[in-house]
Amino acid sequence: MLNILQLNPNPPSLSPFPLHSTTKTLNSLPNRPQFRLLMASTPQSTSDFLTLRPYQHPPWASKLNPIPSHAFSLGHFPTPIHKWNLPNLPKDTEVWLKFQTSSIGTELRSSRVSNFEYWNQVEIESSFELRVLEPSRARAWHSAGLALLNYTPSLYHEELSEGAEKQSDLTQPGLSEFEHTPGWDGFLIYADENFSLRKRDDLSGMQLSGNKVRKLEFLLADAVAQGADCIITIGGIQSNHCRATAVAAKYLNLDCFLILRTSKALVDKDPGLTGNLLVERLVGAHIDLVSKEEYSRIGSLTLTNLLKEKLIKEGRKPYVIPVGGSNSLGTWGYIEAIREIEQQVQKGTTGRSFDDIVVACGSGGTVAGLSIASWLSELKTKVTAFGVCDDPDYFYDYVQGLLDGLEAGINSRDIVKMENAKGLGYAMSTADELKFVKEVAETTGVILDPVYSGKAAYGMMKDMAQNPAKWENRKILFIHTGGLLGLFDKAEELASSVKGWRRMDIDESIPRIDGTGKMF
Ligand SMILES: Cc1ncc(COP(=O)(O)O)c(C=O)c1O
Repeated sequence: MLNILQLNPNPPSLSPFPLHSTTKTLNSLPNRPQFRLLMASTPQSTSDFLTLRPYQHPPWASKLNPIPSHAFSLGHFPTPIHKWNLPNLPKDTEVWLKFQTSSIGTELRSSRVSNFEYWNQVEIESSFELRVLEPSRARAWHSAGLALLNYTPSLYHEELSEGAEKQSDLTQPGLSEFEHTPGWDGFLIYADENFSLRKRDDLSGMQLSGNKVRKLEFLLADAVAQGADCIITIGGIQSNHCRATAVAAKYLNLDCFLILRTSKALVDKDPGLTGNLLVERLVGAHIDLVSKEEYSRIGSLTLTNLLKEKLIKEGRKPYVIPVGGSNSLGTWGYIEAIREIEQQVQKGTTGRSFDDIVVACGSGGTVAGLSIASWLSELKTKVTAFGVCDDPDYFYDYVQGLLDGLEAGINSRDIVKMENAKGLGYAMSTADELKFVKEVAETTGVILDPVYSGKAAYGMMKDMAQNPAKWENRKILFIHTGGLLGLFDKAEELASSVKGWRRMDIDESIPRIDGTGKMF
């Protein structure tokens, strides 16, 4: 976290509260940028982040049952959609990308502030909210995935206490820096008890990113409704779902117990701190290791039940989330994702609607939600899922179970096309798959995780190369489901394909030129 304001130990005495609604622009700032490359879309206000909200289902989902009553706001939605310039596509084929990473909205908010130094030493008192409203950019963000925009400095609109007169001068130089944080489409600043304002770079979505957040919004609302004081879930040693659950649980002040599957050779050893494990261990999740053999002999249901009974005996109130958060309740997360895509398409963000949605399938909940919702809604986009750990028949059956749990009354085979992309098996990558991940990163800047989206995109591109006529003229939305932390587990395997480095060649006679900045 970056402290952006100094606490003024002796704030000027301007009481009673002196500020009034006022509007300022930064147009007068010298050297302001002319253009800005927009890298993300703006999600809705973040003021409801972490709140439990009554759930309003999309009208076209009314025949599903049961419909959840509440959801937590855990993710920052909508996630952006933008064109993905993959090389070697069939004729007139377009691929667009929807990220499941989170981003944070345009809001400057402070709470429970009594006195602190504001840009121009304006004293602010009592509880209030400061919002940065940036209409021109907000509109543009809503309608753009990636775009080069004319840069209009922000309008800072203060909504402060009644009857105040004094204007604050918001031309503090630091402010313009916030607007250019790479990869951010806005910023959230809040004041803590120490009255220092902070930029929430930690909320970029890294720990909570990915497709699991959507499911957790519903699952954790149910856990809280049932009075749980801790969460149990289960997955592979680098499970993104387990990491997202561990983080989300801590946000909600719930303890988290993870059962992680690893190899027989490693099950009695410290699992280390690579990728997702580092995050899980940092947030204090309790980790129980089981071997792959134990896992397949006993099954995830019995394993979670064993831990559940143990915790109940210890006086705890555990709530169990199944592998990948993939039960019928979690499926609602991806029903919502279709509502989001439908709205983005309706707003014209993406031009004409999509012919295909392509996504990775691991435990089945993501594709179950996407396919039933696409079928029920106006979108009616064909969904193709590339299975990364099992065969199509297994997934058709699993998704069928989830659809039956929603009383959807439809056959999974009628609404989704399952393809096999498991290759060597779950979380095992062939040299070709890793080469593909590397090439996509190098040619498009998009980082695919090797376990899910990497395999799915590889499967899609392979199919395009083998059956180009099938994909020609189609507009495809590829859903990038996150999982970037899993990449760290493959660092060694990727090492030989990444570019080298060199020591910079600097002649000793080259003189120093002092520039801006005090860092060095
Ligand atoms: C990054 C990532 N992408 C895709 C998936 C697959 O989603 P699902 O388990 O809902 O099929 C998972 C989890 O399994 C995941 O962690």
